[in-house]
Amino acid sequence: MARLSQELIDQVRQSVDIADVISQDVQLQRQGKNLVGHCPFHEDNTPSFSVSEQKQFFYCFSCHRSGSVFDFLMELHHLSFPQAVEQVAKLGSVTLPSDFQANDEARQSQAPDSQQSQLIKLHQTAMRLYHHILMNTPAGEPARRYLKKRGLTQELIDQFNLGYAPKEEVLKVVLEKEGHDYQLLRRSGLFTENRDGSLHDRFFDRVMFPLKDGQGRPVAFSGRLLQKSADSPKYLNSPETPIFNKRRLIFNFDLAKKAARENGKLLLFEGYMDVISAYGAGVLNGIASMGTSLTDEQLSMIVKTTNQLDICYDGDAPGQNAIERALKLIEASPVANQLRLRVVQLPTGQDPDEYIQQNGGARFREYLKNTEETPTAFRLRYLRQGLNLSNQAELLSYLNAAIGVIAKVSDPVARDVYIQQLAKEFQLSPQNLQQQLAVQVKKQPPVAVPNPTPPGEQWSDDSAVISGRRPFNGSQGQRYGRYNRKKHQATAQPAPQAVVLTASEQQSLALDQTERAERLLLVAVLHDYGVRAQLKAMPDFDFIHDQYRHLYQLALNYFTEHDEYELASFLDYVDDPALKATLTQLDGLDAQAALSPEAIDDCLRIIMQKTPLTQKIAQVKLSLQEAKARSNQELITQLTVELIELYGQKQRLKTEETS
Ligand code: CTP
Ligand code: MN
Repeated sequence: MARLSQELIDQVRQSVDIADVISQDVQLQRQGKNLVGHCPFHEDNTPSFSVSEQKQFFYCFSCHRSGSVFDFLMELHHLSFPQAVEQVAKLGSVTLPSDFQANDEARQSQAPDSQQSQLIKLHQTAMRLYHHILMNTPAGEPARRYLKKRGLTQELIDQFNLGYAPKEEVLKVVLEKEGHDYQLLRRSGLFTENRDGSLHDRFFDRVMFPLKDGQGRPVAFSGRLLQKSADSPKYLNSPETPIFNKRRLIFNFDLAKKAARENGKLLLFEGYMDVISAYGAGVLNGIASMGTSLTDEQLSMIVKTTNQLDICYDGDAPGQNAIERALKLIEASPVANQLRLRVVQLPTGQDPDEYIQQNGGARFREYLKNTEETPTAFRLRYLRQGLNLSNQAELLSYLNAAIGVIAKVSDPVARDVYIQQLAKEFQLSPQNLQQQLAVQVKKQPPVAVPNPTPPGEQWSDDSAVISGRRPFNGSQGQRYGRYNRKKHQATAQPAPQAVVLTASEQQSLALDQTERAERLLLVAVLHDYGVRAQLKAMPDFDFIHDQYRHLYQLALNYFTEHDEYELASFLDYVDDPALKATLTQLDGLDAQAALSPEAIDDCLRIIMQKTPLTQKIAQVKLSLQEAKARSNQELITQLTVELIELYGQKQRLKTEETS
């Protein structure tokens, strides 16, 4: 067996980027100059494993293992040095001397491997041919016009190596001239086979989308018709071959995973055109499956790359159903606890490609940033589909379903935020919803967390929904294809009506909790000297809504000249007709004027601290969680400081209260 020269070994090492090789096994994320991840050689709760692209070198701060790309492969996959070199050479397409064989095993596997690389070479030839025909021949003219009409630039066409398969047979002619083996051509999937065994081009008159593997090598094609046709599918794909397994192929994965290392996430679209348009719009981390639901194989490729996946589908009802289906499927998959999911729903009737064509790339990037939501937030909207919420029965059944969804969120603070939102939106009392929630939360199965969450991250909201708990209504093995999605319209099932509104609640539907507290307290102020004294002793206190703040100020004036409250005489102090009306309404609350000290305290708490402060804390926590996921160190520090400050405020309020 021949020994390899140092020169050749160097050449092999330089043919790949260590980050690309390692990221086949380790999820890496950009942190300054380096990429970091969890060390694959030991249990690693904090990411201690670091890869330098500049130095082409890895290092673990925890176990101190370090070395080159060869060392990595030798250690992790238990390879000998020649085996590691051979593997890297394969990845980097470096040809080693024919008499070099790493070991017996390599000799045995040499035949299929060379078949693989030969098949890839055929695809490279086909890709160049189709691209050439698209760009440089009269036959390619209609396809050129078509792509231009769809807004694709020359740059994008080159980047994705798009091509055109003309009406005449070209590929067979070219490849036969090159003198390839018949069996190899047969296995390539690029041809159809006649009964007499003769081969013919599979693709005619189609725009050709090369489908590339994780290393960016073309392994199959998808060909799109230029015009709709009744008797031919819009996209025609290569059949499965030794190098193409549909379950393992992710469109644009080679480029997107590099982008994901930079911005921490992948973005799942429905179609190739969405991915390509998004790429043109500067969104480089878009991927798509092949018009089908994600497979477990694709999901495991995804979690090796990133821990956040955004789903960006069309905004229409089938699009929503497809999002819900994708969420369920992922939550039921073996990698559910490793992925944080977010949803971006586009305006009704637009797919990402159309949105970009209409609004431009900058607006699209803004849209992605601003409308990203948690699966729970998405579901709260999704459950509404087709319901008439001004009908009380439908509203109640929606609320029940919504509370059921919120109950599955493991973080109590996040649950509270969702409940507050729901209450605010329908102008209901959050306490009532909280009670219903408590009942549902108790019914949740216990959480079995397979991967211990590092301390401080336990309050993560929806990521925790996914983490290790029973999937949301998910059933393993359900794989709806794209084209029967319309059969699965979801509706909030009319559930037993657990949420019941009291009569007074229905009357005060228009008020939120804070405002109700303000009104009760103001009535008490007017009627109760003790409450007035209590409030005057609290310099920090103020009402939140302008109208009550004004009335309170006027009342303080009034009581400098009067001992007893009398509506008619107080009205003289009030000029604004709107305030007069409010005051008259409040007089109707007289019956409740004699509030217990506890009730007064409750109102004060709600106004003073509960509403603004707790909500703020919850919000900062959510943002902090986001920042951590993105490893945005600057933001993490800033938000942590903010959070500590808010806790301090809360603590001070508590001690003031008890002293
Ligand atoms: N698809 C397929 N076969 C079809 C139609 C669609 O395999 N007959 C897959 C393709 O992967 C396609 C995806 O489903 O990319 C989404 O379909 P669609 O939204 O119709 O395609 P777009 O990529 O949006 O393409 P275009 O905008 O050109 O219609
Ligand atoms: Mn489209």
